[in-house]
Amino acid sequence: MSSEHKLDSPFAVSFDNVVKTFGDRRILNGQTFSVKAGELFVIIGPSGTGKSVTLKLIAGLLRPSAGTVKVLDQEVAALSPQKLSALRRRVGLLFQGGALLGWKTLAENIALPLAEHGGVSRAEIDRRVTEALAEVGLQEAGALYPSEVSGGMLKRAAFARAIIENPDVLLFDEPTSGLDPVMAFTIDSLIRKINRSHHAACIVVTHDLVGALRYADRIGFLKNGQFLTIGTPEEIMHSELPEVKAFLNPEHSEVVYG
Ligand SMILES: Nc1ncnc2c1ncn2[C@@H]1O[C@H](COP(=O)(O)OP(=O)(O)O)[C@@H](O)[C@H]1O
Ligand SMILES: [Mg+2]
Repeated sequence: MSSEHKLDSPFAVSFDNVVKTFGDRRILNGQTFSVKAGELFVIIGPSGTGKSVTLKLIAGLLRPSAGTVKVLDQEVAALSPQKLSALRRRVGLLFQGGALLGWKTLAENIALPLAEHGGVSRAEIDRRVTEALAEVGLQEAGALYPSEVSGGMLKRAAFARAIIENPDVLLFDEPTSGLDPVMAFTIDSLIRKINRSHHAACIVVTHDLVGALRYADRIGFLKNGQFLTIGTPEEIMHSELPEVKAFLNPEHSEVVYG
């Protein structure tokens, strides 16, 4: 959490009995959980269970059909458009396919949120972009265009753009899918490092439970619109739930997910 913001409650994000329906399809069905300030929380679950929907509710991109979503002590659905956009500046997003603009350099892409929101001098933007590039290991690459760099570098640049405003909450939607294991490990380590250095609450959606066991503070298993279980890596590793075991031993997964 950046120093100018102080939370009254220890929770950066909390869901109380959240229901989300699309037409007659009920995606989230009374979802309740909280993520503490500075905590790294991983969401795991089969495809189509509402993981991305959960992140979009936190980001204020969707509204709950019932129940309450609070982010940084504010009920998202109750905010005026101005307050919602102020809140969104404190929530960094790294979504699937969150592409960079091809006609701007990596440095220009990373500077975009600061430049768009205004009130920051050119010199300050340059300083923060340089700092963010260094933080993700791209100090030599700021002047390159997206077409000139590897997929892993694009991910890291998108990462730098997500943290440039020093958010209090950071949301990652499958940040390592499609990456080779070495790059996936690098991204996981980066998430952990940023989580610690920025004290941002991080919520990561992933299919990679083995990776999550290495770096999460807690892991939640989403199924049928609710968390089946939420626990520390230690607790999850020893879980007796068949769904959790299936994720730990994917060769048995057809038993659970057909
Ligand atoms: N804006 C939307 N309108 C209608 N249906 C949606 C919308 N967003 C998501 N859904 C549906 O909700 C379900 C959960 O989606 P999602 O959260 O993206 O799944 P996942 O757990 O794979 O991330 C899916 O069946 C999806 O088709
Ligand atoms: Mg998804």
